[in-house]
Amino acid sequence: MFNVLLHTHSGMWGVMVLLFILSFAFYQQKGWSMALRLAYLIMLATGIWMLTLIGFPWKFILKGILALILIGLMEATLGKRKRRESTLTLWILIIVILIVILLLGYEVL
Ligand code: HEM
Repeated sequence: MFNVLLHTHSGMWGVMVLLFILSFAFYQQKGWSMALRLAYLIMLATGIWMLTLIGFPWKFILKGILALILIGLMEATLGKRKRRESTLTLWILIIVILIVILLLGYEVL
């Protein structure tokens, strides 16, 4: 079961990032952001499930919290895009936090 969750989780994060870029580029088309939110749900569900299976190590609790912040920043960025406001700072935060999450996920950090 853990391996199925891990493969789903590690296969989905790339899809989530791609869907975020498409939602940003085509912000007037609702379909991309709906698919993005489904990707969030899959990442959260598989992540929390794995966390319970491995006994809540603090590093992955921290990674889960960073992931929630990342999702919040992505949603804020799409909101600003729709209002045609600058999103540069949010993009920088998203890239930095995503890199930290990946380093924690692949246990580099
Ligand atoms: C939404 C952004 C997220 C990204 C980009 C992400 C990314 C990753 C990556 C790349 C891995 C390693 C996969 C592999 O080894 O093949 C991983 C593993 C993991 N992630 Fe996430 N993750 C996210 C959200 C979450 C959340 C919200 C949680 C929990 C609340 C979580 C918990 C875990 C756990 C427990 C593992 C497995 C650790 C292990 O191998 O023992 N992740 N994640």
